[in-house]
Amino acid sequence: MFLFCLFVLVFSGARSEEGDLGYNLNIGYAIDLFANYGDLGQVTRVVSSDYEDRDDGNDGPAEPFNEKNIRIFANATSSETISNVIDDNMSLLFCDTFEELLEYYFKDFSIEGLSQPWKAFMGDWIPEEIMRTLGIEYNPASENCCFVLAKLSKSHRTVKMDNLTGQVAVKEYVKRAINDLDYNDDAKMRRFMENYGTHYINSYVTGNFIYQVFKYKRVGYNLLKAYMRKGRSKTQPDNLRFYFSSYFLQNVGDIRIASGNKTIEAWARHNLRDSQYLYSRPSLMRLYYNHVLVYKLNQLLDNGALLAMNLKTLKPIFQDRRKGDKFEEIIENDLLLWEVNA
Ligand SMILES: *[C@@H]1O[C@H](CO)[C@@H](O)[C@H](O)[C@H]1NC(C)=O
Ligand SMILES: *[C@@H]1O[C@H](CO)[C@@H](O)[C@H](O)[C@H]1NC(C)=O
Ligand SMILES: *[C@@H]1O[C@H](CO)[C@@H](O)[C@H](O)[C@H]1NC(C)=O
Ligand SMILES: *[C@@H]1O[C@H](CO)[C@@H](O)[C@H](O)[C@H]1NC(C)=O
Repeated sequence: MFLFCLFVLVFSGARSEEGDLGYNLNIGYAIDLFANYGDLGQVTRVVSSDYEDRDDGNDGPAEPFNEKNIRIFANATSSETISNVIDDNMSLLFCDTFEELLEYYFKDFSIEGLSQPWKAFMGDWIPEEIMRTLGIEYNPASENCCFVLAKLSKSHRTVKMDNLTGQVAVKEYVKRAINDLDYNDDAKMRRFMENYGTHYINSYVTGNFIYQVFKYKRVGYNLLKAYMRKGRSKTQPDNLRFYFSSYFLQNVGDIRIASGNKTIEAWARHNLRDSQYLYSRPSLMRLYYNHVLVYKLNQLLDNGALLAMNLKTLKPIFQDRRKGDKFEEIIENDLLLWEVNA
């Protein structure tokens, strides 16, 4: 083990300068998507999981992203906007099946070559575990219908790489590694991917969001859908709450915070209670009707979660088209295979 660590240290020291290797969010840096495919949800804060406590004893702020990445481009530029305002509107996402729930949960994530990005994040997780992080009871015997995902987001940093145009300049160590490649040698291509990555971080948004999953009876689901489609009229009293009553629901999930912050989750469980008839239970609907609570939540939310991300393949770094095509072909084939099997 010791020998192995030593080897890695020396090896990475030789090929890149200090600062070219990172573990947090570095725009334009590349990751090897295959290294953690199916389990990226564990190294990024996208869903309220029980993240391992930091073992350096330092209780600093949560990091939205924790995957090894390396600098590829020599002179890439990016733009960044900072905001600190919670959305005005709660979004309600209608999911006909469990699979759609996952698809919509990850709708702001895209990975070139993958049609179902959620599988890169949670494809290896068992359904019980996925449901637990989504805050909802797992019941394989019940009908695979229907879910409403309610969420309210606060974006903090939005960072986007400027478009790559013309000849793309790469770091010297990447240039050397590309020159060493042979487009007929798949094993060498794969080793290149392990060392320099498959995809670069083209854009991302950090911040946080609060969410809750409601499992509906089909009738209630269709009624709520119809109500939302009609558009709530400004003149008549808003009746949305009616569609969140026990009569229409099969199961009400826990309220969760994407960054996994237990302090805020406890606050939400305590303060966001909705009473209807005999029941009182946590409900995000409280935020829909109460702006003071939204204001309070906005103050509480940390910025530890990843809200959106776009990953693109490193194909543009290859000037030799045959190498670029081969690189892309391997990624596409492997991803297709992995996606089918996840
Ligand atoms: C919120 O919704 C209203 C009407 O549905 C719309 O006019 C407004 O632009 C939305 N605000 C945001 C921030 O999306
Ligand atoms: C960058 O590329 C995107 C998509 O190809 C395009 O919509 C956008 O206008 C481009 N931006 C600039 C500054 O060229
Ligand atoms: C990066 O460097 C290349 C090659 O030197 C050049 O063609 C390109 O314009 C540069 N891009 C930026 C954004 O400076
Ligand atoms: C969790 O949220 C609380 C309240 O905003 C904040 O004080 C604390 O620093 C957050 N914890 C982390 C790890 O970000």
